[in-house]
Amino acid sequence: MTNLTFNDRFAKRFVPENLLQEKLSESAKAMQTLLTKSGAGNEFLGWVDLPSQITSEELQRVREAAESIQKHSEYLVVIGIGGSYLGARAIIEALSSPFQHLEPSKKGVTILYAGHHLDSDYHAKLLAFLENKNFSINVISKSGTTTEPAIAFRLLLSLLERKYGKQGLKNRVFSTTDRAKGALKKLSDEYGFETFTIPDDVGGRYSFLTPVGLLPIAAAGFSINQLVDGAKTMEKNLKANVKPEDNLACRYASYRNALYFLGKKTEVMVSYQPNLSFVMEWWKQLFGESEGKGGKGIFPASVQFTTDLHSMGQYLQDGERTIFETVIQVDSAKADVYLTEKPDDSDGLNYLAGKKLLDVTKQAILGTLVAHSDGNVPCLELNVSGLNEEILGQLLYFFEFTCGISGYMLGVNPFDQPGVEDYKNNMFALLGKNGFEERKKQILAHLK
Ligand code: PA5
Repeated sequence: MTNLTFNDRFAKRFVPENLLQEKLSESAKAMQTLLTKSGAGNEFLGWVDLPSQITSEELQRVREAAESIQKHSEYLVVIGIGGSYLGARAIIEALSSPFQHLEPSKKGVTILYAGHHLDSDYHAKLLAFLENKNFSINVISKSGTTTEPAIAFRLLLSLLERKYGKQGLKNRVFSTTDRAKGALKKLSDEYGFETFTIPDDVGGRYSFLTPVGLLPIAAAGFSINQLVDGAKTMEKNLKANVKPEDNLACRYASYRNALYFLGKKTEVMVSYQPNLSFVMEWWKQLFGESEGKGGKGIFPASVQFTTDLHSMGQYLQDGERTIFETVIQVDSAKADVYLTEKPDDSDGLNYLAGKKLLDVTKQAILGTLVAHSDGNVPCLELNVSGLNEEILGQLLYFFEFTCGISGYMLGVNPFDQPGVEDYKNNMFALLGKNGFEERKKQILAHLK
């Protein structure tokens, strides 16, 4: 049994039954391609069986490193970009207090992030903040050569070295990278850092169940065993031999693909909980980088309701009709807040007295679903029964599996990212990196 359900009550009328059936049978074929590893990018399908194949020894090793980080440090700086940090951040933020910066986690270390952009002020402030703090680093890069994390690592490593000397680095620097290649692997071997390996057959955005995600999550004090167990439950459920209409991933992928076919080119992920904002960031990367190629692909966007109902709500209700929504609903709250009676009812809210804030949210969700679907925005619903490690493991694995099916239905390779290279090469050329001289000439000619 999983804790996730899919509901199409506000999308059904937009998709003719025969089209849905056609898409469901395409989804079953796409799923077979995924499971038999016979499609494009099949050298990157290690993530499909990952939940059931992770060994207790691998998890134990990650937990031991996390304990050592917790023992030595107050802060852990996770250095990585894209798939090398978003999975961990999605889980950590979904489970952390929104006021963590005011009341640091008592369970684990407080996680800070670096190397996910090139902003000078951010990195300067981070270095200044860490000057007198006790911290460790987990540097994560599969290629080991990505510029943003490499720059942040150089800056932070030199601060650590100044504070603790070369010897002190051993307990404080953990690297997660390719088993053999890349500058990070070479440097880690030279310094003797504890190094975790990203399997060859798992790409960045599908890697939250490798040490890429697991080490920061464990260091932050969350249960990686429960996370993996959740993913395992979902893996078993999605691989079961059932009709595509009874398979959650096939249903979601079929609706997405049918709506795209009907001209809905943008999918807006909606959450009513601010702590899911990085789950949505992770989801955007997963689908955007997997599907957006060859002139095709649904554009993944996200909004935070009810906040954005007072801004983007206007567009969603009434703007160009090329959008569909996928609404994540969390059916329970960890802490109930009740609205009480006010004798003079001066704020006019006594009609809500006795209700929980969660009840108010549920009606806001329903009212918005009715309004947006009436405004010709098909709305798909994903309900989870709560938020914990196990449910997040289910949810993220479900999205990965759907993305694989969806990409194959679209006719693209969901496991490469050729488009990401173009900006990198131009940046290298403009910065004067060796080997990019010809490209630099071309760019400069282009600018004339
Ligand atoms: O999903 C992906 O493949 C990308 O987002 C990468 O994770 C990202 O570009 C970082 O790459 P690397 O881990 O090689 O530094």
